[in-house]
Amino acid sequence: MKGIILAGGSGTRLRPVTIGVSKQLLPVYDKPMIYYPLSVLMMSGIREILIITSPADKDVFGKILGDGSSLGLSITYAEQTVPRGLADAFLVGAEHVGTDSVALVLGDNIFHGPDLGPLLRHHVRDLDGCTLFGHPVRDPERYGVGETDSRGRLVSLTEKPEQPSSNKAVTGLYLYDNDVVEVARQLRPSPRGELEITDVNRTYMEEGRAKLVELGNEFSWFDTGTCDSLLEASKYVQEIESRQGTRIACIEEIAYSMGFVSAEELHELGARLSSSPYGNYVKGLVEPRPLLEVAG
Ligand code: G1P
Repeated sequence: MKGIILAGGSGTRLRPVTIGVSKQLLPVYDKPMIYYPLSVLMMSGIREILIITSPADKDVFGKILGDGSSLGLSITYAEQTVPRGLADAFLVGAEHVGTDSVALVLGDNIFHGPDLGPLLRHHVRDLDGCTLFGHPVRDPERYGVGETDSRGRLVSLTEKPEQPSSNKAVTGLYLYDNDVVEVARQLRPSPRGELEITDVNRTYMEEGRAKLVELGNEFSWFDTGTCDSLLEASKYVQEIESRQGTRIACIEEIAYSMGFVSAEELHELGARLSSSPYGNYVKGLVEPRPLLEVAG
């Protein structure tokens, strides 16, 4: 399966912050936002990843992630000259997808929860048509909202409904078989002139080939498209990391745990981040711990 991170758009809801810098480069506590969706693809076992950005931001993403080889990945970049909707990712990324299946993740989505990696890898293996991930939210009118039958098949889907039929928001992680490229090619632009991801998902739904997997309350999900949700996400990451001494979306750690890089390579990645707490954490993952002295 190939991966696409959509990191284009103009981040208008975050202006003036996003006048000079792309939304997906803003920090979410201790790392750039793009680390979070990238970590989701890596945990899914995906190593060939296309990052779609606006022309102005492409080089900065390249500066941060390069060609991905230091993480055992292959990262390429494509430009989206005008934001034409989320489903445009499959037209811009058609060559990258080739004859493979594909996972699309929105560059401003953050996922965290127990055993997320094994869950995602299970659904990658199990893919039949399209798989979406739902999460309960207090403000479903901000999102795509779906309903399922008893077998988890998607039976209704509405984008930003005034009267939501459930509190199940469709998150910004989508798995598709290869048909998605053709489905996107056949789409008509919405009244606002965009190729809507919800229309892609509805096509699969009408063919009975869309699944909506519920991520329960044990998971956390943020769409960091507004100032409040961005701050909320940063506070969440800070809280968990400082309490547990772990890191969320530490791409170097995930590369190591997935077997994409060796212990020596991991150490080198940490060393490159010099003396930041993040870099020390990465280095510390493979440094021998001092033996604790046992009193008495
Ligand atoms: C997009 C999708 C929406 C989905 C959301 C998740 O909305 O259109 O269906 O629920 O992402 O982040 P946007 O954030 O572009 O308004």
